[in-house]
Amino acid sequence: MSSVKITINNQTVHGNTRELLLDQLEQAGFHPEYQCRSGLCGVCRCHLLKGEVAQLDALALTGKNEILTCRTIPKSDVELVFSYPISCSEEA
Ligand code: FES
Repeated sequence: MSSVKITINNQTVHGNTRELLLDQLEQAGFHPEYQCRSGLCGVCRCHLLKGEVAQLDALALTGKNEILTCRTIPKSDVELVFSYPISCSEEA
C-alpha cells in the first residue's frame, strides 16, 4: 500500500492506494454526500483536478474530469473539488 495525499476543496489529508476514495474521505472526517455507494446514483460525484485514479465499474454518468468517489481508488496524490462546501471534522 502506498501513501498518497488527498486534497479536497483545499484541505489535505493522508490516504492510500488501496481503499475507495469515499471511504477514505469519511475516515479522514469528511462528510461527502452519497446514496448507493455502488456507482449507480452519481451523488458522490466530484471533479478530479490533479492526479491519477482507478475508476471501478459504475453505471452513473460522469462528465469530463468527474469521478465517482464510491467507485474510485487513488493511484497518486489527488486533488478533488466538490460542488458544495465540505469540511473536515478531524485534524489529519
Ligand atoms: S454514492 Fe451512488 S454513485 Fe457513488
